[in-house]
Amino acid sequence: MNQSDCNPTERTPAPPDSLFERCAWFYALCREYLFRDHTPEIVQSLFPDEPPAPGTHLLELGCGPGFYACRLSEELPHIRTTGIDLSHNLIRRAQSRARKFRLPNCTFKHADAHALPYSTGSIDAIVVSRLFLIVPDKEGIVDEVFRVLRPGGRCFIAEPTSGFRTRFPLAFLWLLSRLTTVPAGKYREPQQADVMSRPDFEALIATQPWGSMQLEADNWYQYAVCQKAPAVPAQALGQPRVLELRGAF
Ligand SMILES: C[S@@+](CC[C@H](N)C(=O)[O-])C[C@H]1O[C@@H](n2cnc3c(N)ncnc32)[C@H](O)[C@@H]1O
Repeated sequence: MNQSDCNPTERTPAPPDSLFERCAWFYALCREYLFRDHTPEIVQSLFPDEPPAPGTHLLELGCGPGFYACRLSEELPHIRTTGIDLSHNLIRRAQSRARKFRLPNCTFKHADAHALPYSTGSIDAIVVSRLFLIVPDKEGIVDEVFRVLRPGGRCFIAEPTSGFRTRFPLAFLWLLSRLTTVPAGKYREPQQADVMSRPDFEALIATQPWGSMQLEADNWYQYAVCQKAPAVPAQALGQPRVLELRGAF
């Protein structure tokens, strides 16, 4: 008897296998040669006023082959980056990329973006690129981004707007998996990438009470740069200041 036999009301879980796990090499190739590199925009958006302090912890969610985690570790060698992904094969590729480029400040972890293994308010900055296209619970991920960011922390989110350029790689992943697996496997990714309309993207990002939220778009991508409101100092809240009276008594 399996678990779902015990609870007939439970929803049928998504298939456990992932196209990204099965055809990791193909996605890594697309990431390297087909998709745009937003590293300069990410750095400018996440750290607009001054360079990040040493030890700043940046997360990349759904990092795939670790493209941004590695690029950002290279550009900002004094920060710490962690890429998280559900695909073990892509994480292995990401780790070997970080070794190849000698990036000791760049690590990777197997984790689900819907349930991040970090405590509330513990992360300085987050990058999410091309992830909402394929996940079932987008709001759950935005919730998690908001939860783990520290007050004043920022996130950069980039999602494609172009149906063809986006759907082609996913459709090709499905085709490859069919050609290389007999019988054809079942994968949790949708058959078609879910390219969000601008109003849907805006509504998704606005599900959280950001301190500031900036949305932009060009021909291929839409972007959100959000900041969690900085912590308000106790004085500003009208609470009594605690003075240290050294040697007064
Ligand atoms: C379309 S790729 C994007 C990869 C990379 N961010 C980029 O810009 O190319 C989506 C990645 O998200 C991963 N992924 C899918 N669902 C996830 C989840 N719930 N938690 C973490 N990673 C997930 C997949 O394994 C895949 O590597």
